[in-house]
Amino acid sequence: MLNVADVRAHFPALAGDAIYFDNPGGTQVAREVLQRMQDYLIQSNANHGGMFRTSRASDAIVAEARQALADFLNAASPHEIVFGPNMTTLTFHISRSLARTLQPGDELVVTRLDHDANISPWLMVAQDRGCTVRWVNFREQDCTLDMQSLEEQINERTKIVAVGYASNAVGTINDVRRAVELAHRVGALAYIDAVQYAPHRPIDVQALDCDFLVCSAYKYFGPHLGVLYGKYHLLDSLTAYKVRPASNEPGEKFETGTQSFEAIAGTLGAMEYLQWLGQTFGASFVSQLSGRYSGRRLALKQAMAAIQEYELELNHSLLETLSSIPGLRIWGITDPHRLEQRVPTFSFTLDGWRPEAVADALGNDNIYVWNGNYYALAVTERLGLEEQGGMVRVGLVHYNTQSEIERLQGAMQRLR
Ligand SMILES: Cc1ncc(COP(=O)(O)O)c(C=O)c1O
Repeated sequence: MLNVADVRAHFPALAGDAIYFDNPGGTQVAREVLQRMQDYLIQSNANHGGMFRTSRASDAIVAEARQALADFLNAASPHEIVFGPNMTTLTFHISRSLARTLQPGDELVVTRLDHDANISPWLMVAQDRGCTVRWVNFREQDCTLDMQSLEEQINERTKIVAVGYASNAVGTINDVRRAVELAHRVGALAYIDAVQYAPHRPIDVQALDCDFLVCSAYKYFGPHLGVLYGKYHLLDSLTAYKVRPASNEPGEKFETGTQSFEAIAGTLGAMEYLQWLGQTFGASFVSQLSGRYSGRRLALKQAMAAIQEYELELNHSLLETLSSIPGLRIWGITDPHRLEQRVPTFSFTLDGWRPEAVADALGNDNIYVWNGNYYALAVTERLGLEEQGGMVRVGLVHYNTQSEIERLQGAMQRLR
């Protein structure tokens, strides 16, 4: 079992009194990340492609990071990894390339459970190309995606199905394997937003068979950087919006302009942190994983399995704590037997309180939570919460503890 004190010792920011429950907005960084960023800026700070030491060293670090991210996602090749400023920018970017392949009358499928970064790019593609957008709903009572509706919205005109892996608003994990199957049945591409899934569970793009998958390193203990996976033949065949002298190589050709090399180096540091975690706390998962993975891929999967196991406990006690507070309503899965179907991101409303007032009061107690719609606009609209200021979001990761949940309980009781 994961030793949370050892884990926390890797995060300099966690030394103080603050409780970071704002993790779905961004996590704190591991010291391996800081070391990598500092080393990069001192020893190899140079632009790409030069005939001298620092530039060669910089290019080698980017290549190593690309391989590490391919290992993290179990991509077949590092050329399937694209770095960019964040998930939103990468999605708008690649959506332009995908738009060129579409015709008027083609259809795109989006869901109301998604963050707007996996909705707006497709709405704009549809507007630009005369395509139709079909929306998939979610069930209000437990905020789970209506898979029947997903199946009904997909037809032979569908070209892209955009689905989130886990909701940033209510924590629901979606059956994206099924979504990919449904998309492929009609020859459509599946675009998976894994931003909120990546910090919590192992990802295997080959097992999912998704065409694209996006995530953000700053949500899984790294610096501000976005990562896109795309199948090699798609990245190869799509036209990249790029300058002529830049590389035409899949992966790289979508990395417009000079990248944040220090963030890419820091993301390699995040992978090194997870590798340490997997090797230290993931021994019991080796037998079930070693048939499919080896080397760094195995260590990273061990890490995510250990994280998943530890978070299930946090999930239980946070649910119990929040459920015990009178007048508090959790939006999403609340059945303790179904916690495997959600990540430990809980959003709630509290009778008599505006969400920003709750977040402000908790902030004064040094407990950092989010309020509003967190850009999951379609979720708060569907739940009728947009005019009331959305919800309060408490989002945990594996460096959070039971005692932090107890402190939240005390602070919430004082609010009542
Ligand atoms: C589910 C989800 N998708 C996309 C995004 C956008 O990510 P980025 O900030 O990297 O653009 C977020 C950010 O919170 C998110 O939670």
